[in-house]
Amino acid sequence: MHVVVIYSKYENLDEDGHHVNPHGAEQMRETVLGVTEALEKAGHTVTRVEASVSLLEDIRAVDNPDVIFNLSAGITNKRHQANFVGMLEMLNIPLVGSGLSTHIMGLHKEVTKIILREAGIPTARSQVFQDSGEPIRDDFVFPVIVKPEHEGSSVGVDESSYVEDKETLRRVVHDKMQTYKGAILAEEYLPGREFTIGVLGNQEPEVLPIKEYVFDEKAGSTRFLTVQAKANDTVTQVCPAELDDALQSELQDLARRAFLALRCRGFARIDFRLDANGRPHVLELNTLPGLQPNYSDFPNVAQVGGYDYDRLIRHLVELAVQERRYA
Ligand SMILES: Nc1ncnc2c1ncn2[C@@H]1O[C@H](COP(=O)(O)OP(=O)(O)O)[C@@H](O)[C@H]1O
Ligand SMILES: [Mg+2]
Repeated sequence: MHVVVIYSKYENLDEDGHHVNPHGAEQMRETVLGVTEALEKAGHTVTRVEASVSLLEDIRAVDNPDVIFNLSAGITNKRHQANFVGMLEMLNIPLVGSGLSTHIMGLHKEVTKIILREAGIPTARSQVFQDSGEPIRDDFVFPVIVKPEHEGSSVGVDESSYVEDKETLRRVVHDKMQTYKGAILAEEYLPGREFTIGVLGNQEPEVLPIKEYVFDEKAGSTRFLTVQAKANDTVTQVCPAELDDALQSELQDLARRAFLALRCRGFARIDFRLDANGRPHVLELNTLPGLQPNYSDFPNVAQVGGYDYDRLIRHLVELAVQERRYA
């Protein structure tokens, strides 16, 4: 098959041209190389197209594409992740991964949480602020975590995100709103273990082995995944996580249900944390998980689940063709 791989040369620059994700450009280069190599090994022909405002015309210039494999999570703004998928859907060519509406839901953490609550999937009590002066809900149980409502890669999650009282909450919401120029989400702090779970498939998806992020405070680690901890890889990862059978099946069931509730297709990665009673809650869904070989979580957990990188990439293309959403 002829596969068009969409990439962005400068992943996640802010409006002033600074890298929001410090490793974005390098990660994209590695990912494009890895995906291209895997596709070519599987006998596919690959054409790479850079994501830009002329994306549709650039793809139309490609000779008979069978599948589109989008790797671009936006150029100057993470919200463009959905814009590009929206443009690509208009071509009626099978597309790897989820459709436009899923990305919109997944990019807005509070929207995701509303859908999860409706589906009976636990997620921490929260409040979204469009304005730092908004009254704070009085049933909030502190501490809370404050983070941008639509970002990824722990951008905007730092030591100041952990907030123990209303006054500090107001100040931190104000500060983060200035820095990240968008809605800010506060949600009750979940002090327990943290997991990320890859889900692979379409309407009957499979749940890949569960990965735990282990925060060892004694070894100087933070209690949660700050942007610095993520960039410096200071948190230990364990996959498969050590879990008793009951918790394992509960996490698997919640991951599958969350995937279906947001109508994900192909693949998604779902972040979880346990509350003080050991009950799992969904933090967020990553509707376009990174695919950097030997680095990103998704290929890593897929490998543990029996999909080496080449098989995973091949399978994602097969899932896109099977789905026939655009036929
Ligand atoms: N309610 C919460 N309780 C505890 N930790 C949290 C909470 N929300 C976020 N975090 C921490 O912040 C990290 C990033 O938050 P997340 O919602 O996954 O956003 P991102 O899109 O940046 O990955 C999580 O991996 C977790 O360690
Ligand atoms: Mg996350």
